[in-house]
Amino acid sequence: MQVQGAIALVTGANGGIGQYYIQGLQAAGASRIYAGARNPDSLKDIVATDPDRIIPIPLDITDEASVETAAKTYLDVNLLINNAGVGFNQRLVADINFDKVRSEIEVNYLGTLRMCLAFAPILRANGGGAIVNMLTILAKINFPLNASYCASKAAALLATQGLRAELASQKTLVVGVMPGTVDTGMSKDFPPPKVVPEEVVRAALQAVIDEVEDVYPGEQAQEMQAQLLQNPKAVEKWMAGILAS
Ligand SMILES: NC(=O)c1ccc[n+]([C@@H]2O[C@H](COP(=O)([O-])OP(=O)(O)OC[C@H]3O[C@@H](n4cnc5c(N)ncnc54)[C@H](OP(=O)(O)O)[C@@H]3O)[C@@H](O)[C@H]2O)c1
Repeated sequence: MQVQGAIALVTGANGGIGQYYIQGLQAAGASRIYAGARNPDSLKDIVATDPDRIIPIPLDITDEASVETAAKTYLDVNLLINNAGVGFNQRLVADINFDKVRSEIEVNYLGTLRMCLAFAPILRANGGGAIVNMLTILAKINFPLNASYCASKAAALLATQGLRAELASQKTLVVGVMPGTVDTGMSKDFPPPKVVPEEVVRAALQAVIDEVEDVYPGEQAQEMQAQLLQNPKAVEKWMAGILAS
């Protein structure tokens, strides 16, 4: 699929990585970019850079009516980028708060799934297109200091695989993006190394062009994925060790 000429919709477009998705899509020659945010006013500055191509839209992915309205309105989308997400850095036993667990599931899993289901018929009508789901390498292995977030992203990863299988018949490419720590507000309390958001976006858009289904931006994610393939139990024990130290 070509990003040049694509009509994209990005959720969480005002966030740390979201803003770089807008810039990356602009640079790659997307024809139109629907920039979704719960508060579209927060997009004023980025829209001002290219008002003909960047269209701010109100979108809360946990709100059925908001998603339905978007799916009834933006019928030309052929590239859906599910970037919106939340993470509360919660352990499961020590500091569990079920409202936060619910929010992570509502946004990271159910919200992402809701967007995919709402836009699948639109993508089909537009020739198949692509869905990009922002996951994390922590969808594959639990990091106990952020355990409930990992569980919500693991659900989103398996949903991504299921969607990929079902949407193959309508020629929709479904890409899962699994970086390690990305240098944004969400990871401000995390130690380095951190991959820059520009690199995450570059890798994700290149995966769309190359039709790569699973992408691991940055060295941290690539090393972790290699270790997971080699010895997943050793990685689990190493993660548990971080909690003990
Ligand atoms: N930063 C990392 O280390 C890292 C690593 C791997 C994966 N990721 C994933 O990358 C994605 C972007 O993260 P980020 O680092 O850019 O975080 P961020 O700066 O906190 O941005 C998150 C974005 O999601 C939006 N959002 C939250 N709830 C929403 C909802 N119900 N409906 C619509 N939008 C909603 C936020 O909008 P508001 O401004 O309205 O809150 C914000 O625009 C997330 O899915 C995250 O899990 C991040």
